[in-house]
Amino acid sequence: MHNLDLAAIQAEIEKVNSSVELEELRLKYLGRKGLIAQMMSIIPDLAPEERSQAGQEANALKNQITAFLRQKGSSLAGPEPKATADALDITMPGIAQELGQMHPITQVINEICDIFMRMGFSIVEGPEIETEFNNFTGLNIPLDHPSRDAFDTFYLRDTTKLLLRSHTSPVQIRAMKEKKPPLAVVVPGRVYRPDATDASHLFMFHQIEGFMVDKGIKFSDLKGMLEIFAKSVFGPDIKMRFRPHFFPFTEPSAEVDISCVICHGKGCSSCGRKGWLEILGSGMIHPNVFKHVGYDPKKYTGFAFGMGVERIAMLKYGINDIRLFCENDLRFLKQF
Ligand code: PHE
Repeated sequence: MHNLDLAAIQAEIEKVNSSVELEELRLKYLGRKGLIAQMMSIIPDLAPEERSQAGQEANALKNQITAFLRQKGSSLAGPEPKATADALDITMPGIAQELGQMHPITQVINEICDIFMRMGFSIVEGPEIETEFNNFTGLNIPLDHPSRDAFDTFYLRDTTKLLLRSHTSPVQIRAMKEKKPPLAVVVPGRVYRPDATDASHLFMFHQIEGFMVDKGIKFSDLKGMLEIFAKSVFGPDIKMRFRPHFFPFTEPSAEVDISCVICHGKGCSSCGRKGWLEILGSGMIHPNVFKHVGYDPKKYTGFAFGMGVERIAMLKYGINDIRLFCENDLRFLKQF
């Protein structure tokens, strides 16, 4: 009975390009004064036998128009937003940040420097590029000494006077030239030697130098302080011995051994069955060194020692390959 053409209405809805236009059509057909409402409003005026059918037709029409409008509405809105991988989910746990930490070599340097600082030493640093004088001549290392050979030291290109220091002892010269006794100094730093890299050699490693100069400094002062050092680092049960040695810049000279940290002196593969491990070189500062820095060797005496930090760290932690220190493998570094 109604004269609305459903196909025409569907086409009209399909043509719409915006949600505003769509809403206009919704009002036109389904609004309070829309066509469906008008159809409904005349039903009471119809003959009683026509009312039921008219009502059903109006309802069917309303449902179909509603369906057309809904379908068009969702196609206008585009595809439904779906959860994507980068959608923010505030209930998810945060990403834990990896915390950095001090390198084991830095930790050992700090530990050793702290021990000597508690005994009154101060920390001094020197440059890694040194003069031949400070690295050798000033330290009473004669011209024909093998460690002065170009094969044992990195010289800078185009100069025979500048080099990468092969030990921290040149800082003795610098510090003594700068200050008068009394002097108690520790020097941590990098040193360089042209060695082929293997499980126990790097061409760059770290040393800690220590020296003390005053009137009446004795070998027993050296012994007492090194004993405090060794027991702080390796534990109170460690034994220590001084073994005669030669260094051009100390007289007398001694190498210091500790009882093997693995076998405690019985002899094992780590200590070459000797029961002892060498940890540093030391001695009483040679009078020629004092002359080079303008100290009167009749007035002052002093001791000096130098140790390799990687070696101390390897013995302390039972590490068997020095190259681990420069691989930056977090599985290694995280253990310290
Ligand atoms: N400079 C020496 C070395 O590198 C160590 C040392 C320092 C020895 C001070 C005696 C005194 O081997």
